[in-house]
Amino acid sequence: MTERISNKKLEPNEKHHQLYQKWAETGAGLLITGNVMVDPVHRESAGNVYVGSENILPEMQAWAKVATQHETQVWVQISHAGRQTSKFLTARPLAPSEVQLHKMGLFGKPRAMSEEDIQAVIAGFIRTAKISQAAGFTGLQLHSAHGYLLSQFLSPITNRRTDKWGGTIENRSRLLRTIIEETRKVVGPAFPISVKLNSSDFQRGGLTEEESLQVIQMLEGKIDLLEISGGTYEKLAFFEGGENEADVKESTKQREAYFIDFATKVRAVSKLPLLITGGFRSFEFCNQVLEKNELDLVGMARPFITNLKEIRDFLDGKIPKLKDLVVKTGIKMVDDSAEGGYYARQLIRIAEGKVLDPKIRPIQSSFFFLYHELKKSLQERMG
Ligand SMILES: Cc1cc2nc3c(=O)[nH]c(=O)nc-3n(C[C@H](O)[C@H](O)[C@H](O)COP(=O)(O)O)c2cc1C
Repeated sequence: MTERISNKKLEPNEKHHQLYQKWAETGAGLLITGNVMVDPVHRESAGNVYVGSENILPEMQAWAKVATQHETQVWVQISHAGRQTSKFLTARPLAPSEVQLHKMGLFGKPRAMSEEDIQAVIAGFIRTAKISQAAGFTGLQLHSAHGYLLSQFLSPITNRRTDKWGGTIENRSRLLRTIIEETRKVVGPAFPISVKLNSSDFQRGGLTEEESLQVIQMLEGKIDLLEISGGTYEKLAFFEGGENEADVKESTKQREAYFIDFATKVRAVSKLPLLITGGFRSFEFCNQVLEKNELDLVGMARPFITNLKEIRDFLDGKIPKLKDLVVKTGIKMVDDSAEGGYYARQLIRIAEGKVLDPKIRPIQSSFFFLYHELKKSLQERMG
C-alpha cells in the first residue's frame, strides 16, 4: 500500500522503517511496497518515493534492510501515474492520449506522450529496478493496474494512439512488454519480476477480460508472478469488487474475494504463478483457494492496517476471520475518498509509531487527500 511518507527529497526514511518493521513481523511471506515512482512529477501521490539516481541508494538500502530482516521477501512496486497525477503535482500530466480524467476537478488535461517521453519512462523503470535490486530488495513489481500509466496504455479509452504503442492489444501492451524485457536485461534471470494487472477495467470501452487474458498469455515465461486486481480511479473495483451492489453475483458473495472467478480463466490459459488481491478475509476461504490450486498466493491490503495486530494469529489459524471496517459516510459522492483517506491516515499513524485512532471519522477522512496532497506537495516544492 502506498505510504505517502517520503521526506522532502522524496526519499524513504524512519517512517518507512517503522511501518515495514511491523509488516515484516506479521509473518507475511511477501511484502510488496506501495507505488515507487519513476518520475518526480507523475507520482500517484505526494509523499511517494522517487528513485531518480544512485544518490538514493543509502536510503533505499536502509529501507530494504529493515523490511527483509525476517527473511521476508520485499518487492518494490514500480509505477508512473500518467493522467492520474493530481493537479497538486502538475496541471498537464503525460498520458498515452489527451483523454482527461474527470474526478472532483483534481486532474488536468493530459498531453499525449511523444516517442521521447515514452523512452524516458522506459529508462525510468529500468533505473528504478536496478537501484532497487542493488539496495537489497528481493524482487520487483511493475504496476500495470488501477488506471496508472501502464494500465492507461492497455485501455482503449485512454489509449487512442495510432502508432506502434496503440490500436491492437499487441500494440497497447507493447510498453509493458518492452519494460519487462529491458528490466530483465538489467536485473538478470534469477531476480523476480511481477506484474500487477487488471482482470478488466470494469468500464464500458476499457480493457476487457478477454484482452487481459491475451496480455497474460504474452507474459508467459517472461515474469515470475502475476497479480490480479481490477478497476481505475473511475471505477474503484480494487476496493469494492467489480459488480454493482445490486447485481453482485451469488458466487462472488459466497466467495468473498473480488477477482477469484477470473483465476479459473487465467489458469486455463497460463502457467504463471498467480496472486489475487481484494476482499480475502477468512482463514478457511484463503486455504480453500490455495488447496484447490486456484491461486498460488493470497494478497491482502487493508487488514494490514486495521487488523495489523491480528495477522500473526490469523496466519496461525487462531483467528478465523479478519473483520472488515465499514468506512462509509452515507454520502455517495465522498465515500470513495472517505474510505481511501481513512486507511491512508491510519497507515501514516502506524508509520509514525502511533496506535490506530478509533475516533477518526470517515467524513473528515474524505478531505484528507486534499489536505495531505496540498501540504506535502508544497513542502516538497519548497525543498
Ligand atoms: C491505503 C491504501 C493504499 C493502497 N496503495 C496501493 C498501491 O500503492 N499500489 C497498489 O497496487 N495497490 C494499492 N492499494 C490497493 C490494495 O493493494 C488492494 O488492491 C486493495 O486494497 C484490495 O485489497 P484488500 O481488500 O485486501 O484491501 C492500496 C489500498 C489502500 C487501502
